Amino acid sequence: MIFTVAIDGPAAAGKGTISRAVAARFGFAHLDTGALYRAVGVKGGDPVSAARGLTPEDLARDDLRTLEAGQAASRVAVIPEVRAALLEFQRRFARREGGAVLDGRDIGTVICPEAEVKLFVTASAEVRAHRRWLEVGGDAEKVLAEVRERDDRDMNRADAPLKPAKDAVLLDTSALGAEAAIAQAIALVQARL
Ligand code: C5P
Repeated sequence: MIFTVAIDGPAAAGKGTISRAVAARFGFAHLDTGALYRAVGVKGGDPVSAARGLTPEDLARDDLRTLEAGQAASRVAVIPEVRAALLEFQRRFARREGGAVLDGRDIGTVICPEAEVKLFVTASAEVRAHRRWLEVGGDAEKVLAEVRERDDRDMNRADAPLKPAKDAVLLDTSALGAEAAIAQAIALVQARL
């Protein structure tokens, strides 16, 4: 069975939590596409070469979840050649046998416009920054500024900007607990299987 669930949205909206739960529930494979950009960002050197030569070890680094890695990711993510180098791998993953959940910024718009389910997960910048702060700690104001800066860069880049696909279902998790958000996503997939 080929079945793709595309989950897009800004940083810390809840995409990862929802994606992992949906994948586990239906036995689908899961790809966190942000990790690809983070790995390119932290690798250093020429980002286009880094994207073309990405290895499983690059994706297993333990510094990928830091604020700095997120910033580095969004800086390399504006480079069209970097995006192009990562495209085929993501497309093949999306259409693999057995079902796939991909989360990112451009899954429903660019990577897999034919996805059977498209979800656009959002929440206010304050709520998202608070969630990220619980994860990484440090100065809360700095975390909020980082979230805003990344939103701005991701939404305003020329190539594959962050935006909902026309046929995406919007899910605002500002006032929604993880369990409720997961339940809505699962119901949506169930209805289209
Ligand atoms: O989702 P995550 O916060 O890990 O993504 C890190 C950065 O990678 C994003 O801010 C964005 O710039 C970039 N990204 C992207 N396209 C994707 C996934 C992530 O441009 N599909």
